[in-house]
Amino acid sequence: MKTRITELFGIHHPIIQGGMHHVGYAELAAAVSNAGGLGMITGLTQPTPEDLSREIARCAEMTDRPFGVNLTFLPSFKAPPYPDYIQAIVDGGVKVVETAGRSPEQYMPQLKAAGIKVIHKCTSVRHALKAEKIGCDAVSVDGFECGGHPGEDDIPNFILLPRAAEELTIPFVASGGMADGRSLVAAMALGADGMNMGTRFLATTDAPIHDNVKQAIVDADELQTRLIMRNLRNTERVMNNAAVEEIIRIENVKAGTETIDDIRHLVTGVKGRLVLQEGKMDEAAWSCGMVAGLIHDIPSCEELVGRIMDEADSIIRQRLLGSLAMA
Ligand SMILES: Cc1cc2nc3c(=O)[nH]c(=O)nc-3n(C[C@H](O)[C@H](O)[C@H](O)COP(=O)(O)O)c2cc1C
Repeated sequence: MKTRITELFGIHHPIIQGGMHHVGYAELAAAVSNAGGLGMITGLTQPTPEDLSREIARCAEMTDRPFGVNLTFLPSFKAPPYPDYIQAIVDGGVKVVETAGRSPEQYMPQLKAAGIKVIHKCTSVRHALKAEKIGCDAVSVDGFECGGHPGEDDIPNFILLPRAAEELTIPFVASGGMADGRSLVAAMALGADGMNMGTRFLATTDAPIHDNVKQAIVDADELQTRLIMRNLRNTERVMNNAAVEEIIRIENVKAGTETIDDIRHLVTGVKGRLVLQEGKMDEAAWSCGMVAGLIHDIPSCEELVGRIMDEADSIIRQRLLGSLAMA
């Protein structure tokens, strides 16, 4: 399948692995890229720019295919040295950066001067248009169903993707709720040039996270996620657990007066590592999409991507072209 996204990034299949804090290490990024997609190291999971340089070098040893680095600009307790992280990306020879959280506008000159292609992940048409205006090469359009931060507009992908298609000139991928060949064909029918997945890649043998997390995704259905931090306008979709129930209890008691300090000890950015790396499933909130309901196994990235492409092919040839032939 050739799309504007496969051409832009020089990849075989229009499938991207979104940056994931405490997950996006070299092992996963390299496995996705080796499977023909675009793997992504999560920049800020590396504590310093020097650590990111080492992680990029490790990834380059594991794959000779293109891979990218995610840079997330979120309200954080202490702003990381973004220009130094970008320098590590440039020096490491990485040619794709996924930005997210806030507009990457102030860093575009540094990224573009190094010939880096920028795909900005955002949750609204207006932010996608802004990304196009400031020179991003592509956008990843993240619907309300996504794992992680769905923004504050609450527009699901069945509306958001065709709206993005109506307005954008640059290519975009569908993100949020994507799991299989059905998702890919649907995303393309709605105007996208490929898809971005987070949660589905967590439940793979290559994801360097605890087996308890992978099993929790397989066991969950589509009803198990919750939205936290709504009043802080930093909404996050997470898998329900004891920590999340405690966050929601605090939010209900504080009724809009809560601050991040009230829940800091339970949130992903700070404590998510305990769940994702150590498998202590009730210690903290961890990002997870509604798409957990469509995830029933733990394949390798190679198997997963191959299966998605085969399924997409047969849906197009048999189901779609087949129904045309019957007409
Ligand atoms: C465990 C986890 C951690 C994530 N961390 C980040 C992150 O650090 N930065 C970011 O831009 N997106 C992050 N995301 C969002 C994903 O990159 C992707 O946009 C999202 O998972 C897509 O929705 P899906 O889970 O339905 O596939 C995270 C998602 C998950 C599941």
